[in-house]
Amino acid sequence: MYVCVCNAVTEDDVRDCLAHGGSRSAKDVKAACGMLPGCGSCTKRLHAMVSEHRTASELVDALTGGPAPLELAPELPREVPVGDTPMIELERGSAPQTAA
Ligand code: FES
Repeated sequence: MYVCVCNAVTEDDVRDCLAHGGSRSAKDVKAACGMLPGCGSCTKRLHAMVSEHRTASELVDALTGGPAPLELAPELPREVPVGDTPMIELERGSAPQTAA
């Protein structure tokens, strides 16, 4: 659905700017989406979307302690051959115990 008909900017465009483009304000979104001045009827909707996104982001940060630092992210293998399942080696006699 269009947020700004004058500039053909959709809700997905705005959400993408907010989630991945680093936009934090309606002004940032307008710049990122290349929105030029028009009729202005989209302003209220755009501000509402930015506010909703910021509230949701702040809630997620509050619940999770904020975004994880990049250095804590585990390094993933660059390439895993198809059909090659990673194996966990166990020492002899170290089979997991079952609960009684
Ligand atoms: S709808 Fe956005 S400027 Fe007209």
